[in-house]
Amino acid sequence: MSDQPRIVAFAGSARKGSLNLQLVKVAAEGARAAGAEVTVLDMRDFPMPLFNQDLEEAEGPPENGRKLRRIMLAHDGLLIASPEYNSSITPLLKNAIDWVSRADEGNRALAAYEGKVAAVMSASPGRLGGLRGLVHLRSILSNIGVLVIPDQVAVGEAHTAFDAGGVLIDEGRRASIQGLGQSVAKLLRWNRCPEPLASRISSADCKPFEKAG
Ligand SMILES: Cc1cc2nc3c(=O)[nH]c(=O)nc-3n(C[C@H](O)[C@H](O)[C@H](O)COP(=O)(O)O)c2cc1C
Repeated sequence: MSDQPRIVAFAGSARKGSLNLQLVKVAAEGARAAGAEVTVLDMRDFPMPLFNQDLEEAEGPPENGRKLRRIMLAHDGLLIASPEYNSSITPLLKNAIDWVSRADEGNRALAAYEGKVAAVMSASPGRLGGLRGLVHLRSILSNIGVLVIPDQVAVGEAHTAFDAGGVLIDEGRRASIQGLGQSVAKLLRWNRCPEPLASRISSADCKPFEKAG
C-alpha cells in the first residue's frame, strides 16, 4: 500500500464556474505539495435525486451516490469548500452527505466518514465569505465521525479573488488556503505512523502535525 495520504476534494456546488470549486483546488495544491495524492471531483459529475427513504427502499442508492461513497471509502481525508445558502450548507452538499452516509454494498452506515480527517472552507461574493455555513458543515461532519481540523478559511468578495485562469490573486490568502490542504496531509501522515508514540516522534517520515503558515 502506498504511504501517500489520499485526499478527496470537492465543492458543495455544481455551478459552472463555481468559486468554491476554484477554492478547493487551491487547498488541493497545498495537499499535493505536502505529499498527498489528491482527487478533485466536480459535483456536476454526480447528480443525485433528493434523498427520500421510500426511494431508497424501492430502488437503493443512486449509482452516483454509490460511486461517490466508493471514492470516499478509498480516501483518507477530505477537503470541502461549500458556499452558504441562506446561512447554511447547500442542499447539494447535504444531499450528497446523506446518500453517502447510508449502509450499502457490505459497508455499515457512516463507513465513508468515520476516521477521516477534513478541512472545510468557503467562498462567497458576500463579505462573510460563507462563514456561517461552515459552522453547520463542521458540526455535521464532526457528528458523523470526521475529524475536522480547527483551521478554516472563508473567502469574502470571492468574485474578485480569482483571475481568469482560476488563480487566487492574493498570495497571503493563497498560502493560508494551501495550508489547509497541507495540514490535512501532514495530519494523515502523522496519524499513520506506527505505535508506540515514541517511534512516531522519532521517525523521519512521521513529523508531528505543524500549523501551516
Ligand atoms: C439560494 C441561495 C442562497 C444564498 N445565500 C447566501 C448566503 O446566505 N450568504 C452568502 O454569502 N451567499 C449566499 N448566496 C450566494 C452564493 O454565495 C453565491 O451564489 C456563490 O457564488 C455560490 O457558490 P459557487 O460560486 O461555488 O457556486 C446564496 C445563493 C443562493 C443561490
